[in-house]
Amino acid sequence: MSAAPTPLERAAQLRAELARHDHAYYVLDAPTVPDAEYDRLFRELEALESAYPELCADDSPTRRVGGKPLAQFAAVRHRVPMLSIRTETDTEASGAYAFDARVRRELGMAEGDGPVEYAAELKFDGLAISLRYEQGVLVQAATRGDGETGEDVTQNIRTVRAIPLRLRGTAPAVLEVRGEVYMRRDDFDALNARQSAAGEKSFVNPRNAAAGSIRQLDPGIAARRPLTFFAYGLGETAGWTLPPTHAGVLDALAEFGLPVCEHRAVLQGPDALAEFHRAVGALRDALAFDIDGVVYKVNALELQQRLGFVTREPRWAVAHKYPAQEAVTLLRDIEVQVGRTGAITPVARLEPVFVGGVTVTNATLHNQDEIDRKDVRIGDWVIVRRAGDVIPEVVAPVVERRTAELPRFDLLARYPKCPVCGSHVARGEDEVVARCTGGLFCPAQRKQALLHFAGRRAMDIDGLGDKLVEQLVDAAIVKTPVDIYRLGILALANLERMGEKSAQNLLAAIEKSRDTTLARFIFALGIRNVGEATARDLARHFGNLDALLAADEAALQQVPDVGPIVAKCIAEFLAEPHNREVIEQLRAAGVRWPEGEPSAIANGRLAGKTLVLTGTLPTLSRDEAKALIEAQGGKVAGSVSKKTDYLVAGAEAGSKLTKAQELGVAIVDEEGLRALLNKSDTNA
Ligand code: IVH
Repeated sequence: MSAAPTPLERAAQLRAELARHDHAYYVLDAPTVPDAEYDRLFRELEALESAYPELCADDSPTRRVGGKPLAQFAAVRHRVPMLSIRTETDTEASGAYAFDARVRRELGMAEGDGPVEYAAELKFDGLAISLRYEQGVLVQAATRGDGETGEDVTQNIRTVRAIPLRLRGTAPAVLEVRGEVYMRRDDFDALNARQSAAGEKSFVNPRNAAAGSIRQLDPGIAARRPLTFFAYGLGETAGWTLPPTHAGVLDALAEFGLPVCEHRAVLQGPDALAEFHRAVGALRDALAFDIDGVVYKVNALELQQRLGFVTREPRWAVAHKYPAQEAVTLLRDIEVQVGRTGAITPVARLEPVFVGGVTVTNATLHNQDEIDRKDVRIGDWVIVRRAGDVIPEVVAPVVERRTAELPRFDLLARYPKCPVCGSHVARGEDEVVARCTGGLFCPAQRKQALLHFAGRRAMDIDGLGDKLVEQLVDAAIVKTPVDIYRLGILALANLERMGEKSAQNLLAAIEKSRDTTLARFIFALGIRNVGEATARDLARHFGNLDALLAADEAALQQVPDVGPIVAKCIAEFLAEPHNREVIEQLRAAGVRWPEGEPSAIANGRLAGKTLVLTGTLPTLSRDEAKALIEAQGGKVAGSVSKKTDYLVAGAEAGSKLTKAQELGVAIVDEEGLRALLNKSDTNA
């Protein structure tokens, strides 16, 4: 053992370790430590730095949280201008051939000369940034501005965890890295949901959200925005021998710890470029982030130099676009759709428009609050976005194109009655959603409820899909789930597109579905807020249906993970005589499950108990402990709460132990756990 490190040494150790974890998490997408461990290291470094302010350093991860707001951004002159790129708007393969032909002509190549080698990559849809590293430390970050002069956004950029504050390995004296700051689509959706919940304006698209965040004068705001980064090129460099190719440059940047997108290739000639454009186009919806095209760059830096620039665009690069993911069209009307739980969703009826590769005529408007927040009105020109594999959405009106005074849209005034069943539409006091009050009387809800009932993870009735449910409900053959079990071959075979063979298959599937499990049955009932996991918890907790039917709200709240809201939904559902009737009729129709299920577990020594594991146990692995607990009917939860019955604590237990102590939760070690598992008294 060496002597204890000095504060200076320890701070350096901690910074290096945190930087390693950041790289693993944000660049390689392969976390190396649990969050709690990261937090512990981070807090240790914070404490050291506040005790010894002289230890503070620009490359410390504690600097990522954002400093004081600025009055304005300082101007930064780019030592190497930030160029833009020529855009090939021809989204067909011909765009690739045209670029290759231009390059060959400029290089004076003859037809017989071999193919030109290109580096192909994605065109990220974010904000261009130049990062300046001196002796490996990030010293400045600037926006592109007019290409000559940008804005100093260093404070904001420091909050982007994917951007290293210190380069790995032996860094050049000066390295300017150019790349794109962007926001992933899932992070964008979550951010917009948070904005909505806070009553704030949502962002139109991830690019605007990213650009807006980087141009925030308050770095505290930028720090809360989920931004990330891809490097795609260089600015000024000093004290570094450049690799001979662009692909080599990107490899080197990745070695320095910078995020470089994995979707890139070195290709020979225009056929390969066109194929890359096609293949990436097919991948586009599945990517985690928006792209608006691909970029081809002549790979050899020596050839790039020979090709040079025209005005601000290099002759050696081109952006080959895809069809836009946003388009402007006319909002003709707003209609509504009725969901399984009666939720009334406003739907925009649009003048058909080609966006994200498909023709869109409908788009969701979510709910009245969203319509108000965006101030979308019938007759407006609106921006429609379809990105990834998601439902197209109206993101904003183009207010400048509003020529006449248009009335605001009021969902309850326009649709006081459910368009499907005529029951009145109501919106609860603190609810965002308006609902049809018709319940299962409403055919729309009935259809959705039946589809849910028959679904694969519920009663699993193979062949009872959309079209069939539609016909059965419209013909009034099926009103409630019970009617499914009363279907006869005649009624079925007479339906359109249904021969005798398919009718027989369906009846066989219905017959088979009678044998189910209690958990599936509970899930199939379609109680609001009762998903598969909750249904399983309910089945396990109560063991049989009658016990569940007898439970009041208080008893329901005893179930792990069932809080007051869910308990209320279940109690309300069970209080409805109509629902009880359906349940009884289903049982009478022969729907059955193993009684007392899951019996061994329901009677287990830890039945109904919730345990949390923390730290390292002397002999049991986490998985082994979990398996033993579950075999005795116990549940293992991830975090400590009032509902935790026991915390099983091993060596180096962290914040969970503190929390359990605060809440007065019983704490046992491995020996104590074994005692619980083996005790003869089952009702402790
Ligand atoms: S290279 C010398 N590569 O597209 C060429 N740009 O005008 C400089 N962009 O705003 C740009 N992905 O931020 C390059 N893989 C990529 C890119 C890319 C996105 C952006 C860039 C700039 C615009 C080009």
